[in-house]
Amino acid sequence: MSADGRVVVVVGLGGMGLAVARRLGSGSTLVLADCNAATLEAAAVEIRADGYSVVEHQTDVSDESSVASLAKTSVDLGRVEVLVHTAGVSPVQASVEAILRVDLLGTALMLDAFAATIANGGAGVFIASMAGTFFQQDPDLEKRLATTPTSELLDLPELAPQAISDPGTAYGLAKRANQLRVRAASVIWGRRGARVNSISPGVISTPMGAAELSGPNGDYMRQMVDASPARRLGTPHDIASAVEFLAGPNATFVTGTDLLVDGGVVASVLTGTGNNS
Ligand SMILES: NC(=O)c1ccc[n+]([C@@H]2O[C@H](COP(=O)([O-])OP(=O)(O)OC[C@H]3O[C@@H](n4cnc5c(N)ncnc54)[C@H](O)[C@@H]3O)[C@@H](O)[C@H]2O)c1
Repeated sequence: MSADGRVVVVVGLGGMGLAVARRLGSGSTLVLADCNAATLEAAAVEIRADGYSVVEHQTDVSDESSVASLAKTSVDLGRVEVLVHTAGVSPVQASVEAILRVDLLGTALMLDAFAATIANGGAGVFIASMAGTFFQQDPDLEKRLATTPTSELLDLPELAPQAISDPGTAYGLAKRANQLRVRAASVIWGRRGARVNSISPGVISTPMGAAELSGPNGDYMRQMVDASPARRLGTPHDIASAVEFLAGPNATFVTGTDLLVDGGVVASVLTGTGNNS
């Protein structure tokens, strides 16, 4: 355990989670969480071999008791100064129901559990998606997505699986809900002297990004990237850099916001001014 009792929690150990753990974990007790036992074990072995102080906690973010157990384990280890939530599933990987439970409900459960766990002066960063930025809803639904109690969230009629045509729509709704719930949660986290923000990545080169690029929307995604100002995929390190800013001392006046880290894809699509147009 670190001498000053600083705890950094990283949830989801795919491409982004591993990069974030390495970037932020030095000098801390690094709590690593993932639902997949093999992924968790491989990440812990790899990161521990780099010299980090690691505690593993197998966690399913869609399960309230599992999330509560992660929060308790983390706070028992010291001051939870940073929480970074990167766990998620994507449209080619999961059904409508699974996306709603993991991406939407899971984020809400994590925001609730760590609102009561994060240290004074601490910071949370939750990974949403540019899909959420593209998926803005009418103001009434946005308010309900932001503020409906977590236990009733999946009862919203707009989130009934039969009301959602396909996993891509579920993903967009879930990621918009992530942005909105983080904004609302910042008020509650602020009462503890803590901050929370979201990041909305564009197409990032991770196992999930590769799966999406190989899927039915892969060609469209490549076209969007080619037409964007950056003209490249993002790397996990691009996301880790944004997380480091939002979680760190240069962002103490930043809370309740979403940082779009997409190489300009949203800008080029929404203005119709891509490099190819
Ligand atoms: N890669 C991209 O292009 C991209 C773009 C925009 C947003 N995102 C979002 O960024 C986040 C991280 O994505 P990534 O690219 O690192 O993905 P990844 O697939 O590389 O990693 C995701 C990790 O989440 C874990 N996970 C899945 N369900 C879980 C659950 N129920 N409980 C705990 N862990 C669970 C997986 O086991 C995996 O290790 C996700 O929320 C994703 O939706 C990714």
